[in-house]
Amino acid sequence: MKSKNTFYVTTPIYYPNDVPHIGHAYTTLAADILARWHKLLEKEVFFLTGTDEHGKKIETVAKKSGKTAKEFVDSLVPEFKKAWKKLNIDYDSFIRTTDKDHEKVVQKILSIVNKKGDIYKGFYEGYYCTECEAYYTEKDLVELCCPVHKTRIEKLKEESYFFRLSKYQNKLLEFYKKNQDFISPEYRRQEIINRVKEDLQDLSISRTSFTWGIPLPFDKKHVCYVWFDALTNYYSATREKGKEKFWPADVHLIGKDILWFHSVIWPAILFSAGIEQPKKVFAHGWWTFNKEKISKSRGKIINVEELITIAGVDSARYFLFRETPFGEDGDFSENALKDRHNNELANKLGNLVLRVSTLIDKYGLEKTTIRNLDSKKLFERVQKGFENLEFDKVLNEIFAFVDLCNEFIQDKKPWETRDKRVLYELANAIKNFSILLNPFMPETCEKISKTFNFDFTLKELKKEFKIGKIKKAEVLFRKV
Ligand code: MSP
Repeated sequence: MKSKNTFYVTTPIYYPNDVPHIGHAYTTLAADILARWHKLLEKEVFFLTGTDEHGKKIETVAKKSGKTAKEFVDSLVPEFKKAWKKLNIDYDSFIRTTDKDHEKVVQKILSIVNKKGDIYKGFYEGYYCTECEAYYTEKDLVELCCPVHKTRIEKLKEESYFFRLSKYQNKLLEFYKKNQDFISPEYRRQEIINRVKEDLQDLSISRTSFTWGIPLPFDKKHVCYVWFDALTNYYSATREKGKEKFWPADVHLIGKDILWFHSVIWPAILFSAGIEQPKKVFAHGWWTFNKEKISKSRGKIINVEELITIAGVDSARYFLFRETPFGEDGDFSENALKDRHNNELANKLGNLVLRVSTLIDKYGLEKTTIRNLDSKKLFERVQKGFENLEFDKVLNEIFAFVDLCNEFIQDKKPWETRDKRVLYELANAIKNFSILLNPFMPETCEKISKTFNFDFTLKELKKEFKIGKIKKAEVLFRKV
């Protein structure tokens, strides 16, 4: 039985076929925010991300670049690590599917599933999109093209091993029924349930027409289907010494396009292998760029470097989670990001911190037990928002509180009254909302904490503000 005091969050593992973009950054940031929040709640946290390195897609781009597949992925993995560092993403472990330990776990699971009688040899004949690394039936295609990429699709005809996915249809349906919030958001859960009810075909899990993959332990001529290999990462990362306690995962954060793999195929593999199920799969929406689909071929792409040069790292982190509810699609535009940076961060948050610190520097503080600015309720609301992965609501609550602080200072005019108790109330409020905001904007909150002398712990949140030397703060956000 897993201890309640641990928290395990994962991101998809990304195909290292190019540098990371806003879509990859989005999930990884969400995981970082959740991990930081659970650390604040004094949980022992394990935050996993990584790269999905096998398969035909990687093999093909590697060939084009004149490198071996391994050389190719080795050259791109550092780009992901660099990007996450720049975004201030503090993961605990970075898994690569070419890691030997991972490969061993995949082979072990394949053997268990095979012994169970859930794998059989057959012949696959059908359609495969290498870009999606997914199988399609003729009725899925649009004029014989991939429904996602609109590119001509490959017709496969090869010997293959199959996983008896169909056998798990009822078991999956029962599982969804018993675990109502296994799939979130709710409307996506319904879609999955309807599809599973309709039809569940066995899944081809091996290929013979290329070699860049993990060999099947019971037939080395075949390499394992990339998704079987990739999904297993979440479990294999916890087979390391000291990490076992984190399984099952508390939440797999993913994009809506890969929900089927995570909510149907992955649980079925786990059922077959006799491994406990994760607690939740949350599928977020997609970003468009100026209302158009993000697409490399049309130059509508925004990579991590571009994202953070617009208004800085924390403003990007803030924007992505304030702009759109986490489950829904959102539109990214430079202007919208700049507007929020200038109006909400510079004018409201930055100004408040600067004003209050300047006044305290001048007039000092005096303790009071009056609490016009009640952060207890704020904490409860923030907690509820995090529980439901409603990041936008959490930010709305925090910034509504910042607004209250701004109204309070306007109303009390401490620059005229020199009322040190009003300043004390404000300092206490700034401490409290900054502790709650820290998961989203760690760099900014760190600066605030240096000015107001507090640290990011639950204890500090519950304590009243301790009077110490406060100097005028530096400007937190320069307008862009
Ligand atoms: N390798 C698989 C995942 C395996 S997990 C066991 C994969 N990789 S990926 O590199 O294509 O990207 C994955 C993630 O990026 C998905 O969660 C996908 O939803 C997300 N995004 C890609 N473009 C996106 C947007 N435009 N907006 C938001 N997220 C997007 O799939």
